[in-house]
Amino acid sequence: MRAIGFHRFGPPEVLVPLELPDPVPGPGDVIVRVAATSVNRLDVLMRTGIGDPGIPFPHVLGCDIVGTVATLGPGTDGYSEGERVVVNTCYGCGACGACRRGDEVRCPEWKSFGLQVHGGYGELVRVPARSLVRPPGGYSSEELACLPMVLSVAWRSLHVPAMQGPGDWVAVRAASGGVGLTALRLGQQMGLRMIALTRSPARNARLQEMGAEAVVDASRGEEAVVKEVRALTGGHGVHLVMEATGVTLGSSIDMVRDGGAVVVYGSLGGRQSTIDVVRTYRHSVQVIGLHNGNRDDLSEAFEFLAAHGVRPLLGEVLGVEQAAEAHRRFERRDHLGKIVLRHPGP
Ligand SMILES: NC(=O)c1ccc[n+]([C@@H]2O[C@H](COP(=O)([O-])OP(=O)(O)OC[C@H]3O[C@@H](n4cnc5c(N)ncnc54)[C@H](OP(=O)(O)O)[C@@H]3O)[C@@H](O)[C@H]2O)c1
Ligand SMILES: [Zn+2]
Repeated sequence: MRAIGFHRFGPPEVLVPLELPDPVPGPGDVIVRVAATSVNRLDVLMRTGIGDPGIPFPHVLGCDIVGTVATLGPGTDGYSEGERVVVNTCYGCGACGACRRGDEVRCPEWKSFGLQVHGGYGELVRVPARSLVRPPGGYSSEELACLPMVLSVAWRSLHVPAMQGPGDWVAVRAASGGVGLTALRLGQQMGLRMIALTRSPARNARLQEMGAEAVVDASRGEEAVVKEVRALTGGHGVHLVMEATGVTLGSSIDMVRDGGAVVVYGSLGGRQSTIDVVRTYRHSVQVIGLHNGNRDDLSEAFEFLAAHGVRPLLGEVLGVEQAAEAHRRFERRDHLGKIVLRHPGP
């Protein structure tokens, strides 16, 4: 099969065409013929080696996979060849307690496509059938390819127990990124009051169109950000902070109300932060680490999108052979919306 991959860590130019053996399905697996994938921060972290879990080369990126079932392995009843599918980004061993509960992200052996195993920049991918989701109708493959990773994380964050329902306040860091924009759109539809924290205040109007009730300029320093978020919420603080920048965890804890939560899923600005431990326990702040999502999270989130007519923000579509150029554009960050890579074919 054809794929775009890399033999060494480095700049976008390390992404080159590869010819690899076709994957073979084991019991319970299907082979998916990929129609489209999208560029995620994870791809850049992997290509540059920052997020390397110790992969062998060559490596094929792509955690978002949309396509059709090409081959069925033994024990994959219920699916048929040619059927359109979306693949959940993460899967576990399938046998441990967490996996049996459907909580595969907590499996000690969890794997993500494009991270420990080859992903959607390849023409074919081997996938456990239990990771497949039937997509809602009315969405193109390019639109669906924008979603699995960012949607799962946004969906799970907005459903932590500290969230009580419509009217709750949520502060979203890195608001103009993939997860941020998705959270704004979801949150608006859920009746939540969304505050976008962004280093790009020039995008103020766009972020409001996407669902932000207020936009806070995060480049003015954390003290000002905490003050503004508190003022916006009548001095109480938010119910939830979606923490994508990592280094700001301490001030995220400072802007949460009593019993609120900070969901930590990214480290865009760095992986160390200083927190006020006393404030954390005196105000019963919950700090929750989160990665990927389970199949059922993705499936529920798709149903919600379809029921509310929410479409992903599709930035641009390039051919998969232009992956290096797509990464250059992604890193320039002058795009808003996801960059999708399309495989040749119908
Ligand atoms: N745990 C998981 O499973 C999981 C899943 C998805 C993503 N993530 C992580 O969550 C974070 C956000 O993901 P994403 O998909 O939204 O990423 P993205 O699309 O690359 O987000 C880029 C945006 O992040 C903001 N940003 C703030 N500080 C930044 C910095 N120091 N460097 C670069 N960008 C910065 C900028 O938005 P503003 O200009 O609006 O500030 C930028 O436009 C990443 O760290 C990603 O690795 C984790
Ligand atoms: Zn397991």
